[in-house]
Amino acid sequence: MKSFVLRGGTIVNPDGNTETDVVVRDGFVVAADQSHGDLPVIDATGCYISSGFVDLHTHLREPGKEEAETIETGSRAAARGGYTAVVAMPNTDPAQDAVHVVDFVRSRGERVGLCEVLPSGCITIGRMGQQLVPFAALAKAGVHLFTDDGNGVQDPLIMRRALEYAGELGVVLAQHCEVARLTEGAVMHEGACCSSLGLPGWPALAEELMLHRDIELVRLTGAPMHFLHLSTARSVEMVRQAKLEGLPITAEVTPHHLSLVDELLTSFDTVFKVNPPLRTRGDIEALKGGVLDGTIDAVATDHAPHSDHAKEQPLDAAPPGMLGLETALGVLNTSMTLSPRRIAEVLSWNPARIANVADRQGRPVVVGEPANLAVWDTTSALVVSRDHLVSKSRNTPYDGMTLRGRVRHTVFRGELVVKDGEALK
Ligand code: DOR
Repeated sequence: MKSFVLRGGTIVNPDGNTETDVVVRDGFVVAADQSHGDLPVIDATGCYISSGFVDLHTHLREPGKEEAETIETGSRAAARGGYTAVVAMPNTDPAQDAVHVVDFVRSRGERVGLCEVLPSGCITIGRMGQQLVPFAALAKAGVHLFTDDGNGVQDPLIMRRALEYAGELGVVLAQHCEVARLTEGAVMHEGACCSSLGLPGWPALAEELMLHRDIELVRLTGAPMHFLHLSTARSVEMVRQAKLEGLPITAEVTPHHLSLVDELLTSFDTVFKVNPPLRTRGDIEALKGGVLDGTIDAVATDHAPHSDHAKEQPLDAAPPGMLGLETALGVLNTSMTLSPRRIAEVLSWNPARIANVADRQGRPVVVGEPANLAVWDTTSALVVSRDHLVSKSRNTPYDGMTLRGRVRHTVFRGELVVKDGEALK
């Protein structure tokens, strides 16, 4: 459906909320006129209408792991979650370290047409941490965000050089903060719970050491850096201080690090194994504080599909990661009380800026703007069922839980792609 009226909702814009119809025609938000009385009406009663969500951290798995997710199934999950753009992480097979791979991911996303798929590029060839990718060629191919996500870049000289290139080219590096030597064999957060279970631990320090190093490299080079999936209280404090000093950094947290505690691993259920690991209640409170006071710029899903087959292995062998796209709004809104404005800011406006797509995503909902929209509420109950997900994988930790707040409709490039919570194509 390409021409319609969203009726009964409240528009959430940076300059305030307004209760008014939104008329969408030929891809754009247009002014109401006499002829709009004939257009189909989509009910948005009780909902907020904002720019569509933008996920800075989505694993789409294609090419290489299509048994877990494809660009098509991941895009559908994104649309269902209110997303109109996702940054596709580079740990595919082959990795997104060459122009032909990112071209493939982008064009497949275009063909699917359910949301914008923005391929990230690796920082190093094969994400091996040794040799830099051809930054200039990848930037020319439209890559804006570079990351070895899944791995942290261990070598400080490689990271320094990468920052220097990125600064020159006007692109951004996104770091997965993990000193690998400190997390070998780890399956969960290192702390009281892991000691009592006798499991190898992933210390908070492994994240904080690399974050500290990279804040200093940003200070040295002046190039911007985005920090992925921060998970500890001290990380939030370090980012807060670095921002006070005016360093050009941004940071994200995931819905699962805001909502799930390390003690869930006492079940030995691999669905709770994630990297970085679930942390303590104190860490969760500090992350929420960062979301509330603006230290944390974005809530990003780290949507990490894995097949049942992969997750059914023992805890030490199972891959880390959990689904996120279809539940992000509900988990965020259930975990903490945020204004609709702050929800739009962390799920749409800020990530659109960080991903460099603010010319078409994260825009104010006003006449003349491209119609990339999410229609959502913060009150209705959503019972998560792994059997009702449209992702190809089932590894949600929220199965059976009741979340508060849901995405009702999603509009991508003026087309209604999700209506009443169901994908239309
Ligand atoms: O839990 C995670 N899963 N963390 C990562 O950094 C990578 C991701 C994946 O690719 O499965």
